[in-house]
Amino acid sequence: MIRPILRMGDPRLLEVSRPVERFDTPELEELLTDMFDTMRAADGAGLAAPQIGVQLRVVIFGFEDNQRYPDAPPIPPTVLINPTIEPLGEILEDGWEGCLSVPGLRGVVPRLLRLRYSGFDAKGQTFAREVDGFHARVVQHECDHLDGILYPMRVVDFTRFGYTDVLFPNEMRGD
Ligand code: NI
Repeated sequence: MIRPILRMGDPRLLEVSRPVERFDTPELEELLTDMFDTMRAADGAGLAAPQIGVQLRVVIFGFEDNQRYPDAPPIPPTVLINPTIEPLGEILEDGWEGCLSVPGLRGVVPRLLRLRYSGFDAKGQTFAREVDGFHARVVQHECDHLDGILYPMRVVDFTRFGYTDVLFPNEMRGD
């Protein structure tokens, strides 16, 4: 079921979410189904549970090709629960981000270029991946939601923060 996405200003987006304790339950399956339905309906690259008002440490991400990020390489559809991020190196990379909770805007955010993430899948199996670039950026963005952090809080250079259709007038991008 497609759920309403909370928008910036809603205090629930600023809370620290709690870990999932029980896996492979109908409730968790339903949450994940709703999250994928909601993300795909909005053509998002990722979604965190608190964005639909569920304060659990659950994120999803992945797409084949994405209208909102037409230059982004595909990322396999992924469920990541109770995530941990470890930096691989100290290099930060600037890149444009948007957020379904901050519609219409884009900003440049510095993020770790390479990292290792680990956590649990829907069945409670642990897994880990080493990633870089846009994949690493999406993971950092989604995991920030679990700690009540929205990407505008990470913007350093506010000359590169604005309305998508003004910043990129010649490109077909959603908000
Ligand atoms: Ni977001």
